[in-house]
Amino acid sequence: MSAGYTGEDGLWHDDDCAGYSCGGCGYIGADSLWYAGERPAYYQDDTITLYHGDSLNVAHGLPSSSVDCIVTSPPYFGLRDYGNDGQYGLEESPAAYVETMRALFNELRRTLTDDGTLWLNIGDSYSSGKGGAQGESGQRSDRRFTASGLGAKADLPTKNLLGIPWRVAFALQDDGWILRNAIVWHKPNAMPESVTDRLSCRYEPFFMFSKSQKYWFDLDPIREELIYPDAADGSRVFGGKNKAGDLQTGSSARRTGNAYGGKYTAGDKARPADGQRHTGGHSKGKNPGDMWSINTQPFAGAHSAVMPQELARRAIVAGCKAGGIVLDPFSGSGTTGLVAQNNGRKYVGIDISADYLKLSLETRLQNAALDFGGAA
Ligand SMILES: C[S@@+](CC[C@H](N)C(=O)[O-])C[C@H]1O[C@@H](n2cnc3c(N)ncnc32)[C@H](O)[C@@H]1O
Repeated sequence: MSAGYTGEDGLWHDDDCAGYSCGGCGYIGADSLWYAGERPAYYQDDTITLYHGDSLNVAHGLPSSSVDCIVTSPPYFGLRDYGNDGQYGLEESPAAYVETMRALFNELRRTLTDDGTLWLNIGDSYSSGKGGAQGESGQRSDRRFTASGLGAKADLPTKNLLGIPWRVAFALQDDGWILRNAIVWHKPNAMPESVTDRLSCRYEPFFMFSKSQKYWFDLDPIREELIYPDAADGSRVFGGKNKAGDLQTGSSARRTGNAYGGKYTAGDKARPADGQRHTGGHSKGKNPGDMWSINTQPFAGAHSAVMPQELARRAIVAGCKAGGIVLDPFSGSGTTGLVAQNNGRKYVGIDISADYLKLSLETRLQNAALDFGGAA
């Protein structure tokens, strides 16, 4: 270790460091591991770098503007005990959890390129009335709901949905993140819940934030096939009011999807003036919209809260340039890394659990090209 000093931030910096961005400074963490921009990674090859430790601590040592895209799913509030000291999700209150997330993503914002995006999946929790919070069931295929036994406090009467995802989203907005989408991840195969006094939960939010007003985003790889491919020439109409009523673009045709967008012929009264009301399809497909129906995906390994690969894929191919670097500060079973590799991106993963890092290396991250989807 070179000569250095402890900064106002309480962290160790090299003498010539101008902050976190020197790329060569670090400190000894509470877990006795050395964290630095040039830290010994837990694992490293040409495309994958894994760090073992608390994600905020590790983030402090990452160089500024060094990742192009962050795709992640943190431990949810009051939901599960991963069995590691310092794990997130077991904070005393929703406010404390939100602050943990705010502080982490504020630091990760520094590590993101100015044109980078953050894709954040967080599930919600209910106050349990036992001084604890209780996760929604069906969030992931095999979540365990242990929070009510963990002593977390929610200052709301029993049975309240805590609104954790939006509390976090608002806190990140206050920190300068630009919230661009609140995608609904709809889970067609969500686990049934044994509740009879409310509806079961079948979705989780998936937020897309940008660091700046202008950012890198490619819609093309996630476009959906046009129902009417010939609509790309603009001769069919989608959306807007049909003035003629008697044509097949009427409201009932729209509802059923039957023949909606019937082709215009010269003289059709319903044809709108150019640029008004109706729009033609895009030649590369349609915008997939902000409701994504994606089945939860079990993982045969020991990690039980995995993100479906398709959720990570859409975020990565739309949010990270080819050859760019994707970061997941809660790497877990390595879903984000696997998908990044399979789509020609590099990966930096962080996890507090060495067991999960080891598992991900032995299963999903080694020879990712050989992974054919599903359980590894
Ligand atoms: C919801 S899981 C992530 C699952 C991952 N997206 C996947 O598909 O496998 C959350 C992960 O965060 C890790 N974790 C919890 N607290 C942490 C902390 N303070 N720093 C880093 N990782 C942490 C847990 O070990 C767990 O692997």
